[in-house]
Amino acid sequence: MEARDVPVPVPALATEPRFAQCLREHLEEEQFLDGRYRLQEVPGGRVALPVVEEKLSQLWLPQEIPCGLVQIQDPVPSRAARRQTPAQKLRGKLQRLLGKSWSEELERDVPRAWQRHGDLVLLSEDCFRAAPWEKLGPALWETVASALGARRLARRGRVLPDGMRSPSITLLLGQDGWVEHVDNGIRYTFDVTKCMFSPGNITEKLRVALLPCSGEVLVDLYAGIGYFTLPYLVHAAAAFAHACEWNGHAVEALRRNLALNGVQDRCHIHHGDSRQTPVLQAERGSLEGASSEGEVQHPAEDGGKETLGARIRPEWQRWAEATAAQIRGLLVELHGQPWRTSILHIEAVKSYAPHVHHLVLDLECRPMLPT
Ligand SMILES: C[S@@+](CC[C@H](N)C(=O)[O-])C[C@H]1O[C@@H](n2cnc3c(N)ncnc32)[C@H](O)[C@@H]1O
Repeated sequence: MEARDVPVPVPALATEPRFAQCLREHLEEEQFLDGRYRLQEVPGGRVALPVVEEKLSQLWLPQEIPCGLVQIQDPVPSRAARRQTPAQKLRGKLQRLLGKSWSEELERDVPRAWQRHGDLVLLSEDCFRAAPWEKLGPALWETVASALGARRLARRGRVLPDGMRSPSITLLLGQDGWVEHVDNGIRYTFDVTKCMFSPGNITEKLRVALLPCSGEVLVDLYAGIGYFTLPYLVHAAAAFAHACEWNGHAVEALRRNLALNGVQDRCHIHHGDSRQTPVLQAERGSLEGASSEGEVQHPAEDGGKETLGARIRPEWQRWAEATAAQIRGLLVELHGQPWRTSILHIEAVKSYAPHVHHLVLDLECRPMLPT
């Protein structure tokens, strides 16, 4: 047992073994028996039956059952208790930690769901807000972690409107927020307190992984920690990637992710504002393709037919066309020769808020050969 998992004694009635069954039936009938714990043998050869602490004052016993009140110092959870869901376990542990101070307000404040990242549990922002929790100090977070089988705990705040999608996450227990995920055979590490994790992007990551990009160079203008750059390199066999990202924390994670997956030699990270960096790099002649909020890729086998499908709103299409024209203009200006940009696909990944969407545009960019 870990040091932080200090057992809390539970009250019990101790009786001789021959009276144990009779006492049990009585306690069950009166709903005094605390079913969360097992009956236990206590010194003197007696059997201790756990009783519900809150009901001690109402306890009455038939005279013919001789018994006395004791404390079980090291209570063992009953089989039923061990079958509890993690949320029930958490509530039970907190209830015991708070004893008489437990209230309905606190019960409502206990989370029922959370996000798990290995040994780190990420709580939502609306839990443990009531004042009495504060009095518990670190014991609160140690109890929560132990109930949820975690070593580290963090709590979510709102995503900061700073353009970098920085999460306002507070580490409550543990030394750092670095976690690791394996997604479609790719290892991703990132600091949950500094970078966003977007499980909703899985469909898009799978789509990217299936694209035939062999020999292609791609530019991911908004790379984040590499959710799309990595599948392009690992699964879609892109020859090289230019990953642009301005958030230093995401860049650090991206660097680690490239190394974790052994593709660091096929990617150049451009740390900075992607409205500036591709231009600078292209001037040095290193870019062969470009894209917007997303990636350049080889044409999909369906020729990008679904690009203009019913799901694509006219304003997204207009945005894609304007972006394609802008990038074509930049390429022509930089290389002094005609370039062609073709919209291959528009993917609506998700919506953050009304009129705020995360779109991915696959834009193919090629120099036009003289005829
Ligand atoms: C919505 S996230 C998408 C990340 C990744 N493509 C994904 O889907 O998981 C957008 C990313 O673009 C970055 N970003 C936004 N504007 C940028 C800019 N002008 N230059 C460079 N990076 C930018 C943000 O920091 C963030 O990491």
